Amino acid sequence: MQNLKLSIEMANTNLANAKTAKNDEFYTQYADIQKEINAYLDYDPNVFRGKTVLLPCDDPEWSNFTKFFAQNFESFGLKKLISTSYAVESKKIKDWKPTLFETESPYYDADKSRTNGKIFILDEDINSDGRFNINDLHWNYLEGDGDFRSDEVKALRDEADIIVTNPPFSLFREFFTWIMEANKKFLILGNFNAIAYKEVFPHIKGNRIWTGNKNFGGGMDMIMPKEIFDANKLKKYHTDKEGNIIQNIMGVVWFTNIDHGRRHEPLPLMTKEDNILYSKHKEIKGKGYVHYENYDAIDVPYSDAIPSDYDGLMGVPRTFLDKYCPDQFEIIGNAEGDAGKELGFKPYPRELRKLNKSLRDGQPYYFDENGVPQKPFGRIIIRKKQ
Ligand SMILES: C[S@@+](CC[C@H](N)C(=O)[O-])C[C@H]1O[C@@H](n2cnc3c(N)ncnc32)[C@H](O)[C@@H]1O
Repeated sequence: MQNLKLSIEMANTNLANAKTAKNDEFYTQYADIQKEINAYLDYDPNVFRGKTVLLPCDDPEWSNFTKFFAQNFESFGLKKLISTSYAVESKKIKDWKPTLFETESPYYDADKSRTNGKIFILDEDINSDGRFNINDLHWNYLEGDGDFRSDEVKALRDEADIIVTNPPFSLFREFFTWIMEANKKFLILGNFNAIAYKEVFPHIKGNRIWTGNKNFGGGMDMIMPKEIFDANKLKKYHTDKEGNIIQNIMGVVWFTNIDHGRRHEPLPLMTKEDNILYSKHKEIKGKGYVHYENYDAIDVPYSDAIPSDYDGLMGVPRTFLDKYCPDQFEIIGNAEGDAGKELGFKPYPRELRKLNKSLRDGQPYYFDENGVPQKPFGRIIIRKKQ
């Protein structure tokens, strides 16, 4: 029995690891990078001028980030482009093979090819054709495996002005902290849930970072490397013109501290009275807003139902951040766990547990029409900008 339990646990762990490893290897489509970067250029055409851009956790032979920035090196006015990749042997998925690009290069080293990361640099017109572009990208092996936590990649981070990448999903917290401690401009992909991480949320609240231009809906189509593709397991996918396997990954959002126009567009809203008369949401129309039992705030279950004339505190879904304009609202805190307790959410009376097992301290609850306590999911507390 003990052994069976152990082997089930091991199988579950292996499954979880395989899933994590796969999530760590999704690659970003060129068009998604281009669309996002265009939003920052629209806001400030000189955002990259004279800057050193680092693309860590990349893999230029596979990834579009390096291709995109190298192709636009001149038009962006970049000073230097550096991109680094992670060693094949350090990836959690083992059956990667070196590309022809590598094996046919004069720098090719069969041993280092497996154990070392690579560095790609564009900062001079190597082929003297009078242009700076992808043909001037030169590469070599790193000393180590290209782990972003290594001293050599940290030194590149410190040299850079702007860091752009889609980091490994399983190391998002660490990667985010790695950027923040260096105090750099950045644009990175992450999961929507990262909004609530204790490492992330205080920076969102403080308007030091925000979510990117792409809206939260629809997930993001990402390239799944052929090495991890298993047609028997993956049911929903399509292939693009180049034959890449594309899978839609839900909840992928950009995090950044580079300004873009969408975050300065106020959300068009109705007054409280008009919401009660005309809201398209049945929870609001003819009823109004419920007040939390354990905190002085109303619950607003949809961002488009925020009453424009309400001056008090409001609990809104985290997806509100997709519409957040710091000139219109201020973020007071995250209504969850320790953060919620610190905000002042009173503990729920334990006798209510028999009516709703999902109640948690640090989170809001209210009574529905039948007197049953309800816990709204994933709220952040906001207030109209005074
Ligand atoms: C999600 S993929 C994204 C690749 C590329 N940036 C893109 O979006 O096209 C993350 C990459 O980081 C690599 N990686 C995983 N752990 C890493 C680490 N500790 N340090 C550096 N890179 C890592 C993975 O092998 C993978 O190539």
